[in-house]
Amino acid sequence: MARLNDNYLKLKAGYLFPEIGRRVKVFSEANPEAKIIRLGIGDVTQPLAPAVLKAFHDGVDDLANTDDFKGYGPEQGYEFLIDALIEKAYKPLGVELKKSEIFVSDGSKCDCANILDIFALDNKVAICDPVYPVYNDTNVMVGRTGEADDKGYYEGLTYLACTEDNHFTPAIPDKKVDIVYLCYPNNPTGAVATREDLKKWVDYALANDAVIFFDAAYEAFITEPGIPHSIYEIEGAKRCAIEFRSFSKTAGFTGVRCALTVIPEELMAETGNGEKSSLNKLWNRRQSTKFNGVSYPVQKAAAAVYSEEGWTQVKETIDYYMENARLIREGLEAAGLTVYGGVNAPYIWLKTPNGMSSWDFFDKLLSECHVVGTPGSGFGPSGEGFYRLSAFGGRENVLEAIDRIKKNLA
Ligand code: MLT
Repeated sequence: MARLNDNYLKLKAGYLFPEIGRRVKVFSEANPEAKIIRLGIGDVTQPLAPAVLKAFHDGVDDLANTDDFKGYGPEQGYEFLIDALIEKAYKPLGVELKKSEIFVSDGSKCDCANILDIFALDNKVAICDPVYPVYNDTNVMVGRTGEADDKGYYEGLTYLACTEDNHFTPAIPDKKVDIVYLCYPNNPTGAVATREDLKKWVDYALANDAVIFFDAAYEAFITEPGIPHSIYEIEGAKRCAIEFRSFSKTAGFTGVRCALTVIPEELMAETGNGEKSSLNKLWNRRQSTKFNGVSYPVQKAAAAVYSEEGWTQVKETIDYYMENARLIREGLEAAGLTVYGGVNAPYIWLKTPNGMSSWDFFDKLLSECHVVGTPGSGFGPSGEGFYRLSAFGGRENVLEAIDRIKKNLA
C-alpha cells in the first residue's frame, strides 16, 4: 500500500479558516434567519479598481487575436510587471532591485510555503506566536518538527512570544536559529516594526548567517510615516532576507491571485559541503520546474495597480478599509474593550472580556451577535484570550457588527 506523509497527521484539527467556516455553517443551518456578518478571514469585499479592471479586460482581449496571443509566459513573471514593481513599489522606498530578483507568483501563501523547498530540513526555524498559521503548519508538513505538546507548540520549532508586555514585537532569540519568519504589519496582531526593530533582526541574521522570511503582505496599509514598508529599507537586509508581497489585500486580488517574492542576488546559504550558494538561483530553478507563471491578463491587471490612475483608485479602497479599522477600533474601545492594531494594519486584535477564552468569545459573538471573527488562539497559544476582527468588510456590515457587539457587551 502507498505510504502517506505522516507529518500531516501531526497537524492539529483543520486549517483555522476552514474550521471557522465549518462552525459558522453549523450555526447558520440551525439558525437560518440569522444575518451573519463575517469579519473573520481577511478577505476583501470591494470591487477591483476600474483602471485595474480595464487592464484585466484588455489582457483578455489580447488573447483573442493571433498577434497578441500569449501561451506560456515567463515563470518569473512578465517584464512589464517586474519593471512596474521595481520603479513604483521599491524605488520610492530607496530600494534598488534587479529584474532577476523579483519572482511573480499566484500568492504569498503558496510562496511562504513553497520557499521551504530550497532549504534543508535541519535548519532551525523561529516563528512568532501568535502567527499566520501557514508558517507553522508548512514546517510541520515538510517534516521539520516532532509532535505538538499540550499547548500546541511543535517540537523543534522556536516560538517567539508576542504579548501585550512586549507590544506584540518579540525579543530576538537567545539562541541561534537559521530561519526567522517576520510579518509586518503583523497578521494577526496589527503590530508594526519600527526601523530600529527591523535593524535588530537584520543584525541578528547577519551575525548568525540566518535568513529572514519577511512577509510584507500588509505594507500598503501602513498609515504612519517612518514605518518601513520593506525589509530592504534596512542596510544589509539584501544579504539576509527574502521578502513576500501580495496584491491580495493591497488591490483586492484574493480571488484574482497575484503576488511576488524578492530574493536578492547577494543572498547566500550554505551547501552541504560548506560552500556559499545563491538562493536566488535555486528559487529560479524551483519555479521553472514547478510553476508555469501567473496568467497574462492577471499580470496586466497587477501592473495597472501601479499606473497613476490605478494607484489613486486602489489607495481609495485601502483608505476605505482603514476607515473601517478606525470605526471598529474606536467602537470597541467605547464598549470598554482593550484593543490593538487597526492603525497600520487592517486587523484589530482585541482582548476578550473577563478573561474569556478565544473560542468561547467566538461562540458568544456568533450565537448572540451573529458576528464572525477569528479566535486568537487559532494563531498560536499566545493568542489565547484574544480575538481578531478584519476591517475588510463592507461599511454597512462593519457598522452593524460594532453596534451589535456594543449592545451585547453593555
Ligand atoms: C487571514 O485572514 O489571516 C488571511 O486572509 C489569510 C491569508 O491571507 O491567507
